[in-house]
Amino acid sequence: MRVPAIEIQGVRKAFRRREREAGAPWWHRGWKDKVALHELDLVVEQGGVTGILGPNGSGKSTLIRILGTLLTPDAGAARVFGWDVVTEALEVRRHVNRVSVEAAFFKELSPWENMVYAARLYGGAGNGTRRRVVEILTQLGLARDVIDQPMKQLSRGQQQKVAIARSFLTAPSLLLMDEPTTGLDPRSKKEVQSVLETLRAERHITVLLCTHDMDEAAALCERVLMMDGGHVLADGSPAALCRAHGGATLEGVFMHLTGKTLEAEEEPAEVST
Ligand SMILES: Nc1ncnc2c1ncn2[C@@H]1O[C@H](COP(=O)(O)OP(=O)(O)O)[C@@H](O)[C@H]1O
Ligand SMILES: [Mg+2]
Repeated sequence: MRVPAIEIQGVRKAFRRREREAGAPWWHRGWKDKVALHELDLVVEQGGVTGILGPNGSGKSTLIRILGTLLTPDAGAARVFGWDVVTEALEVRRHVNRVSVEAAFFKELSPWENMVYAARLYGGAGNGTRRRVVEILTQLGLARDVIDQPMKQLSRGQQQKVAIARSFLTAPSLLLMDEPTTGLDPRSKKEVQSVLETLRAERHITVLLCTHDMDEAAALCERVLMMDGGHVLADGSPAALCRAHGGATLEGVFMHLTGKTLEAEEEPAEVST
């Protein structure tokens, strides 16, 4: 049997921050622990797109950052393809790619040059690299003439495609996508979603997709985890979740479970790392 792409046992993460007690004067601020993830258990097998659906502040990015070795859990253990995210972080990084709205590139260089750079970094460059890179980029729907243009001339959707293609250079791989379509114009959003469609069929790429867009989750994910307040409330295919909780849509399921809508903001903005 293949080792799971993700194995999480009892992972907890809290952030210490200064907060004002309700009713206290503004200068009266004490340190408080904000639990972002409560003892989380999760297994994701290799292949396919798994969605993490939850409102702002529900812990999605914290989970992604732990799997990407950018944060360490306070308790519990997390493994990626069997590697421990804390004690074997280098191995984990070799198998993980994080794609967020702003992907990091050499903007003056072309997609091809950026890909070759990444391939060298991962030790994947050699004879036939150009053919393979062109193959990957065209598979993701990037026009041939775009491949040699400077990155800065590409739409954000096209840049996202290159970021995703870059993770194809390493295998097996786990693609961590933290709200990859949030804030994109409609065309770029469609482009990124069409890539995810393609990836669903790729059995050697595992995608973890965070989103608060229910339609996106319903359309692209074979499995959805609903999160709220650092807890996983429900786990299953979009259809099974709707059946089990008597909702016509994932929005209805979330309403049923929490009594609120997904758009409801718990707090104004997330803190980025
Ligand atoms: N670096 C940080 N410092 C303090 N609090 C944080 C930090 N990162 C996240 N949090 C808090 O942890 C909770 C979960 O945040 P996050 O994982 O970013 O949620 P999501 O991605 O679902 O919006 C929120 O209450 C957020 O304010
Ligand atoms: Mg987030």
